[in-house]
Amino acid sequence: MMDRPRPADAEDALRDSNALLRAVTEGTDDWVYVKDRDGRLLLVNPAICKAFGKPSEDLIGKTLAEYVPNPEEAEAIRNNDTRVMESRCAQRFEQTITIDGAARTQLATKTPRFDAAGNVIGLIGISTDITDRKKAEQALEMTNEALAATVAEKTAGLTELTQHLMRIAEDEKAKLAAELHDELGSLVTAIVLDAELVLKDLPATSPKLVERQKEIIELARRAAQLKRRIIEGLRPLLLEQFGLVPALRDHLRQWKATTGIAPREYFREDLVGLDRDAALALYRVAQESLTNIARHARAKHVLVKLDQTPAGIVLVIEDDGIGIARETLQRPTSHGIFGMRQRIAGFSGTLTVEPGAKGKGTRITVHLPPDRETGMQRTSSSETAVRGNAGM
Ligand SMILES: Nc1ncnc2c1ncn2[C@@H]1O[C@H](COP(=O)(O)OP(=O)(O)OP(=O)(O)O)[C@@H](O)[C@H]1O
Ligand SMILES: [Mg+2]
Repeated sequence: MMDRPRPADAEDALRDSNALLRAVTEGTDDWVYVKDRDGRLLLVNPAICKAFGKPSEDLIGKTLAEYVPNPEEAEAIRNNDTRVMESRCAQRFEQTITIDGAARTQLATKTPRFDAAGNVIGLIGISTDITDRKKAEQALEMTNEALAATVAEKTAGLTELTQHLMRIAEDEKAKLAAELHDELGSLVTAIVLDAELVLKDLPATSPKLVERQKEIIELARRAAQLKRRIIEGLRPLLLEQFGLVPALRDHLRQWKATTGIAPREYFREDLVGLDRDAALALYRVAQESLTNIARHARAKHVLVKLDQTPAGIVLVIEDDGIGIARETLQRPTSHGIFGMRQRIAGFSGTLTVEPGAKGKGTRITVHLPPDRETGMQRTSSSETAVRGNAGM
């Protein structure tokens, strides 16, 4: 059996717990308070008295409406108090109290207070001032927003510049192709024709000379073929003359010959509203994607699909190879993929790079919306970039 505590012991314990309570509530900048069911203050710590500039006697027994100067703030805090007492659970709130014109933001933790029978008889609260933290957060947010705006602006500038450079590059290629075609082309043709004439006149008695002359003609013909291949690389003639689908088919035929992979092809023939610059952009994306597959993918199967939906034109190039790691895509040296994106962005389109079917390989998807910008058409010199439009 334990001894019953003597009255003196009980008094000591009470005195100790009061001292402890004071020590806890007095030594802090946080507001510590106890309220009854009607919101009247039963206990306030010195931090509260200091904030309101009033002794505790002027605050005890008061309701929010009586000591919080701003009625809207008082109402909001009162609602929080009610919520805690009704839910019977501790809750945390962000509250604002304006005293002498200075708004302070507080993080208030409120716990319901129960009597022995379990009835809620009020609440106990601790509020921490987070005004400075809040200000710092807001400043950080503003800095972040400003930073994001700067990045967006710089990116837009970079996109504009890249597209400008691409336009220049296409223009230059077209000029070079035209010169090769008109100047070198007629020279080589003249050589072949002249050499053939000379061959006719060569006496049969000079078999060595005849042989040499035939070699000259063969070399000139090879030069003509080389010229054609170079022009084709610089400016896809099929694209200009017959449109995107025949140009893609022809490119795929050559690609198959060099890689040994026969791509599955699905081409929508009757594409509507595809201007020549957009067609050139799609052709270049297909070219680069197929070059990438040949160089990097180690693929067995490839799909190339060109379709038109109400949402615009869709080009898909998919392989079942080793796939591209996410980090690789973000590498600043991934110029090919970056260039494709920039090209398509110039037509308000999107280019996505993701794993292919069953998470294997790579799928490049280009979407060109119907109401897109017309990209390279914005420069007058681009007229030379892709001449003619038959079939597009
Ligand atoms: N289809 C693919 N399958 C697997 N990896 C690929 C594929 N396409 C691209 N990659 C990877 O992504 C990287 C970036 O491709 P990107 O075309 O941007 O650059 P690149 O081909 O290396 O160089 P280039 O500037 O000549 O195009 C490649 O180096 C390769 O590692
Ligand atoms: Mg590449």
